[in-house]
Amino acid sequence: MGLKIADRSAVDAFRVMDVMRAAQSAEQAGRAVYHLEVGQPGTPAPLAAREAVKQALDSHTLGYTMALGMDELRAGISELYRKWYGVDVPAARITVTQGASGGFALAFLTAFDAGDRVALATPGYPCYRNILSALDLEAVEIMTGPDTHYQPTVAALEALEGPVNGLILASPSNPTGSMLSPEDFGAISDWCQHRGVRLISDEIYHGLTYGTPETTAAAINDDAFVINSFSKYFSMTGWRVGWMVVPEDMIRSLERLQGNMTICSPAVSQIAALGALNATEELEALKAGYRRNRTVLRDALTAGGISEISAPDGAFYLYAKVDHLTDDAVELCRRILDETGIAITPGADFDTQRGHHFMRLSYCTDEASVQTAARLLAPWLKSQPRLR
Ligand SMILES: Cc1ncc(COP(=O)(O)O)c(C=O)c1O
Repeated sequence: MGLKIADRSAVDAFRVMDVMRAAQSAEQAGRAVYHLEVGQPGTPAPLAAREAVKQALDSHTLGYTMALGMDELRAGISELYRKWYGVDVPAARITVTQGASGGFALAFLTAFDAGDRVALATPGYPCYRNILSALDLEAVEIMTGPDTHYQPTVAALEALEGPVNGLILASPSNPTGSMLSPEDFGAISDWCQHRGVRLISDEIYHGLTYGTPETTAAAINDDAFVINSFSKYFSMTGWRVGWMVVPEDMIRSLERLQGNMTICSPAVSQIAALGALNATEELEALKAGYRRNRTVLRDALTAGGISEISAPDGAFYLYAKVDHLTDDAVELCRRILDETGIAITPGADFDTQRGHHFMRLSYCTDEASVQTAARLLAPWLKSQPRLR
């Protein structure tokens, strides 16, 4: 008889990774693949980041750093808050993490005890729910739709059955790219503070917005955890480096957990991140490309007969309703990859119930790939009979 496998490990897969594997197999078999499945910029880390690493390789031991990260990087991130939002966030409240992903587990472990309940919007980033579940925390879903711009509202929070200990906000969100207005963000943050609910604000898509102003919870809620990363705006997914703004009275708990669990984030990635903080011109040019991609892909979906597409204020995704084509978006996405070479993620990753009628397309890959994918996708969609 096999030994026990812990129930807590029985979490759903992050399906994007499965689509990435299928796309890679198709590529290895010699097929052209257009990567619209993953939120991964098609560009390397900015030049200043790569130059900083080249220098460090010959001059730096690249040993362990402090658990909370290199002082220079923490100071640089503190400066970023002044530059981006005009707010003063002391470096002492900032910790470097192994991507935003590394921040979630640390924040949840610092803020919640087993059995605590944490509210979040559905559709939403699946790993929130899966990490909560692995930590014996209960994810309390708030079903959202176009009527509330796919974001939670104070009314929806009031209507929840039973009290919650935490709330995760993502503005802009993945998969829809939708944002809360500063007023709505403020109202939800106030609600959290009055109810003693810990706000966790995932701000990983800040910097990638197309008009709507961003609100950082760091400016309005001292009890909030703010999670961010160098993966998206800074085009550094594989470097696995991000950061958190931590409530002042929790930084020591967080440092203890971080020191025990990972010791620190990779030194080489922290050096790269420090370089990336000065790459504004290069990064703004990338964002302009995403904006063009967004138009090209939206037009292709519309031409392909899709009428309900999220109106993304930020990030680099379109969430498209395909219920006229299928009740099984996993199968639809599999066929699209097989027949056109376009890799797309089914909505079920983000919404286990309604997601079978949606797919998410990422538009941060290079412009030539997006243009070719758009050319192939529109006629394919148009020609499809309903699957089932
Ligand atoms: C909303 C959201 N949060 C966090 C992450 C994880 O990012 P990181 O690469 O920093 O771990 C992602 C990745 O797609 C995301 O979409």
